Amino acid sequence: MLNISHQVKPRTGKIELPENLGFGQIFTDNVFEMDYSPEKGWHNYTIKPLSNLSLHPASMFIHYGQVMFEGMKAFRTVDDEIVLFRPHKHFERLNNSARRLVMPTVDVDMMVEVLKELIAVEKEWMPTKPGESLYIRPYMIGTDSALGVRPSVTYKLIIMLSPVGAYYPEGFKPVKILIQDDYVRAVRKGTGECKTPGNYAASLLGAEIARQQGYTQVLWLDAVELKYIEEVGTMNIFIEYKDEIVTPELTGGILHGVTRASVIEMLKDMGKNISVRRISLEELLRAYDSGKLVSVFGSGTAAVISSVGELKYKDKTLLLNRGENSEIELKLFNEIQSIQYGRIPDRFNWLTKVDVTVPAL
Ligand code: COI
Repeated sequence: MLNISHQVKPRTGKIELPENLGFGQIFTDNVFEMDYSPEKGWHNYTIKPLSNLSLHPASMFIHYGQVMFEGMKAFRTVDDEIVLFRPHKHFERLNNSARRLVMPTVDVDMMVEVLKELIAVEKEWMPTKPGESLYIRPYMIGTDSALGVRPSVTYKLIIMLSPVGAYYPEGFKPVKILIQDDYVRAVRKGTGECKTPGNYAASLLGAEIARQQGYTQVLWLDAVELKYIEEVGTMNIFIEYKDEIVTPELTGGILHGVTRASVIEMLKDMGKNISVRRISLEELLRAYDSGKLVSVFGSGTAAVISSVGELKYKDKTLLLNRGENSEIELKLFNEIQSIQYGRIPDRFNWLTKVDVTVPAL
């Protein structure tokens, strides 16, 4: 039995969501918060109003980056139920990030129960339109106040919720991506496979340069040889050749995408020839020149399935699938969204139901 203190204030007035939710602009009224100390373990389980944090200026996470986060989603199904998409996998990945950053792990089953309780409190925030969902952002920070470099002893974990629409302003329209090797995002044996802000900070300059040239994101190369394709930072990458679909293997520099794993499972189930291996940039460019390359797409919790309409590397531009969504992209997008919104049976067992009823659509 979970012992969560509810400090939720009664809501006055109806929730009015804007026509276009965008991504991560709106936050629900309440958050879940808990604290860690070696003596008490995780304690102070509380659901309480979202408010500013009050922290010591020497809090260790600010100085030495002991921070990590997760991103997952809850959906309102066509039967007016609320379901979580693969929450156990997300909390397992949170624990992997925690181990690499010398932070405490959490009990996965317990966290899923905590999340269900928070979502039950915030159920009126579940957006109703197709393509919309409730994005869930758990994060953990090291909270000791000290300036010596060492792991913090105390921690705080917070879960916040945000009703969202499509991640990219393009929606499901193909995005333009720049491949560049002036900067790298993350290095294997470093923190590349953790969901930690340092990886995102390292990606900002390259992404800004890409933006100035009219590209939405950067496709990063491996940081050791600058030769192999890794990921896009906001999504993992898949390449469709005429006879094979490939995605980079998890070398340590790439996030273990939950949507990536789901796409691999769906492709296998569709009987496609899917390979997980190292893919050099040279291989990709050669495949384009020889006409073997059909399409490129990304997968991610926020991005779902995103087509890539154009790739650019130095002075070479690759126009993909005439800038339109390819057949496989549409198929994967429809399949994953149909499972998430309960339009077809959950045959992969990916959904966890939250036991509440939401107002009928
Ligand atoms: C996600 O897909 O959940 C992400 O975390 C990507 C991005 C919003 C940082």
